[in-house]
Amino acid sequence: MAKTKTVFVCSECGQEYSKWNGRCTACGSWNTIEEAEPAPVIGGKSAAPLGELKFSPINDISYDDETRYSTGISELDRVLGGGLVKGSLVLIGGDPGIGKSTLLLQICGHMGGQYNILYVSGEESERQIKLRADRLGVSNSGLMLASGNNCESIIQGVKKAKPDIVIIDSIQTITSSGISSSAGSVVQVRECTNAFMHLAKSEEIPIFIVSHVNKDGGIAGPKIMEHIVDTVLYFEGDKQLSYRILRAIKNRFGSTNEIGVFRMDDDGLQEVANPSEMMLSGRSAPVSGSAVVCTVEGTRPILAEVQALVTKSTLSAPRRVATGFDYNRLYMLLAVLEKRTGFFFGGVDVYVNIVGGLRLDEPAADLAVALALYSGLCDKIIPDKLMVFGEVGLGGEVRAVSHVRERVKEGARLGFERCIIPKQSFSSLSKSESYGIQIIGVRTLEQAFRAINGDKKENNT
Ligand code: TYD
Ligand code: MG
Repeated sequence: MAKTKTVFVCSECGQEYSKWNGRCTACGSWNTIEEAEPAPVIGGKSAAPLGELKFSPINDISYDDETRYSTGISELDRVLGGGLVKGSLVLIGGDPGIGKSTLLLQICGHMGGQYNILYVSGEESERQIKLRADRLGVSNSGLMLASGNNCESIIQGVKKAKPDIVIIDSIQTITSSGISSSAGSVVQVRECTNAFMHLAKSEEIPIFIVSHVNKDGGIAGPKIMEHIVDTVLYFEGDKQLSYRILRAIKNRFGSTNEIGVFRMDDDGLQEVANPSEMMLSGRSAPVSGSAVVCTVEGTRPILAEVQALVTKSTLSAPRRVATGFDYNRLYMLLAVLEKRTGFFFGGVDVYVNIVGGLRLDEPAADLAVALALYSGLCDKIIPDKLMVFGEVGLGGEVRAVSHVRERVKEGARLGFERCIIPKQSFSSLSKSESYGIQIIGVRTLEQAFRAINGDKKENNT
């Protein structure tokens, strides 16, 4: 018999190697590569016998509309694309202690009255789950708890009990008897996920799987499961702050980039229906270096405060720190400000922070960051009731962005009086509609600077 070749797999991203390395060249993590059993060779002797592939005309395939359950948490329903799809496998990833178990237990509270839910925990005993459920006020007759970590016995139990929904907390504690490696290893996580995927599809039961994100490589993270499951949700947030953001990274049944916003209170997670108010709460008297931007997450406009602190540097290579904003994008904006508007940041440290733990990934945040930097450098206060958005190009030009009407309306709704937007985006606004906010269009960064200084020439409406 030919000797099977050992493979080495990165527990963080799943990249395979023929020999051990200290650092994964694919994802850059250190000490995450470990020995693993090789996958069966496709077409080789170990592969399953061939079955005949059947093709069906697309018009002959039918489905019923009633395939989505409402989870009772509208923020979660939104992220799932309008509810939980029957037979789908949903991965909930996040740092340990961020609130994944809490969220799932709260779903049980909402759905347990209507559906039979099986909650399998490999981390806590039934009594511990019950204790937490009591604290969260979850007590439904339809909720069944089990403490276990054997993949096969869970599958057997599910097939026998036939629940409507299954929750598995967490995949890193589950082991399959057929695999010798320890719980949380790449092979265990991958094979157990595959088995649960098969279970979800064959029994048409939606399954939630919790997966911990880990940074030190001790256990395999959610990255290596992403390609298997239907929906990937990440629960993010700073543990020190109470806000939590649930973000869809992949969704076979809805749009991604949709977010749900929660607040962690003493009695569990509360939905935040009005994130703009939350993000802007606690704004003090106007100071320099603060600008308000309207960003769009999924389909939802959210106002956020961008803060920039510009201080004299004592270092030969001044500091640039960005929290919630792309570091390279900050460098680009600083370069554009220097080259196109003549404001020099060479001898100063720059700190940019997006208040409230939000991450601004879209280019529409550029203008707010640029204005906050200008305001911080020149100690010019941006007026209190002024909101901005727009992409900044390398030529110092302010470029059009999407969702202009939604952004403007969100600003007006929260009592903003003026709004600086890209001049090119004017065409997206209807002439007849009154937005209840003064709209100022700018073509360049310099025009935007003049607008915040109250130059009436830039006014358009
Ligand atoms: P948990 O859901 O156990 O996190 P995960 O499953 O993602 O590891 O959340 C644990 C944290 O949440 C813990 O630090 C305490 C906090 N928490 C509250 O603040 N209020 C609550 O009502 C609950 C249940 C937890
Ligand atoms: Mg947990």
